[in-house]
Amino acid sequence: MSNLATTLAAQDKRHALRPWTNFEAFEQDAQLILASGTGARVTDIDGKEYIDAVGGLWCTNIGLGREEMANAIADQVRELAFSSTFVDMTNGPAAMLAAKIAEKAPGDLNRVHFTTGGSTAVDSAFRMVHFYQSSRGRPEKHHVIARDNGYHGSTYASMSIGNKPGDRAPEFRYLSDTIHHISAPYPYRVGAGMDDATFTQWLVDEFEAKIAEIGADKVGAFFAEPIMGAGGVIVPPNGYFKAMWEVCQKHDILFVADEVVTAWGRLGHWFASWDEFGVQPDIICSAKGLSSGYLPIGAMIYSDRIHAAISSDPARWYTSGFTYSGHPVCCAAALKNIEIMEREEILTHVQDIGPYFEAQLATLADLPTVGEVRGRKLMMCIENVADKATRALHPDEVNIGKRISDKAEELGLIVRPIGPLNIMSPPLIITRADVDTIVDRLGRAIEMVHRDLST
Ligand SMILES: Cc1ncc(COP(=O)(O)O)c(C=O)c1O
Repeated sequence: MSNLATTLAAQDKRHALRPWTNFEAFEQDAQLILASGTGARVTDIDGKEYIDAVGGLWCTNIGLGREEMANAIADQVRELAFSSTFVDMTNGPAAMLAAKIAEKAPGDLNRVHFTTGGSTAVDSAFRMVHFYQSSRGRPEKHHVIARDNGYHGSTYASMSIGNKPGDRAPEFRYLSDTIHHISAPYPYRVGAGMDDATFTQWLVDEFEAKIAEIGADKVGAFFAEPIMGAGGVIVPPNGYFKAMWEVCQKHDILFVADEVVTAWGRLGHWFASWDEFGVQPDIICSAKGLSSGYLPIGAMIYSDRIHAAISSDPARWYTSGFTYSGHPVCCAAALKNIEIMEREEILTHVQDIGPYFEAQLATLADLPTVGEVRGRKLMMCIENVADKATRALHPDEVNIGKRISDKAEELGLIVRPIGPLNIMSPPLIITRADVDTIVDRLGRAIEMVHRDLST
């Protein structure tokens, strides 16, 4: 380890509180300190190279280190490094990006409220549900329904909308009086033994029952990720998303699609709700791939219909937003990112490489500890089990996902451990050779851990 690496590691341990910190591991484990990156590859402070199959954190869609992005960002810093978008002000990049997002978003989702990331986009959607329902004379419709295993961010409201195992540290508090949860559309566990149609009907019935329990006149919105990400890359049974949307239509409930992960190309479309699942949401939450992680930005995209209702009284104030809403440099980065995606036809590339990634990863399904390989296109996951037949998990202390990701790191591959899972969401520009490398290294890491556990 170099002197610089040693100094940085000590500074981190002494002063930083990183996201999702387990204090014992924080004290004991060495950090992986990344120093540089190009495309789908990153290099640590000691010069070791890794292929980043996590894409940063589901976000480095066009890949790292693009000169064009650096120039667009630097140009905007020189031109106008900051401008507020409060009251009567805006700036060129913010206006242009709002129009660009409206062009890409499905149907009448033509209105954009900029946020600082995904959590604040979800939080803003939650507040919009209240504002919209009150504006149209239905203030009692302020309850929302979301799903177990959902992850929607880390603000007070967005964390309360989520309900991912392990995230609900008892020391924190959560909003519970108006946020309700129903089952995850998780075929491998919740729906085991049911075919798609039976499982979908079971989930729809549960949703209807929950609405009846709360009262349809009190339910304002349903929040859902098209494919659950951090909760386990859960691809719902065929027909589920549309069926849940139909229930929302029937009961006058807004459909909020959290596309923080699934938008901007990860599934081969600008947005997945309509193009992949045939559902027209009322609100879409977006972030991450919007700027490919070059700068922080999020967007809460909502319909003209919602806008007509909230603006129906000209005396009304929409008192929500952030200092950095519509930040000109972040918006310039997002505009350049979308321009690159268009010019390089990255969506078409994902349509081609996605199924290849799915097929190659599926070859690991025969390994003794792999319970399921699942996901779609560039959003994939391996669920590790102790017993393939019963699907029993390893005891928590085995820390199987982390063991495998540690071994993968030794082999020059970054995969994300979440409990028993190893999750992958590589940059969209990966090649077939990259896919082969990922699958080879991950397979070897799994085998090494299996051998360690068996001896
Ligand atoms: C589906 C989903 N929603 C919201 C968020 C929160 O986004 P952020 O971390 O940018 O606040 C995430 C982050 O991973 C996410 O996966």
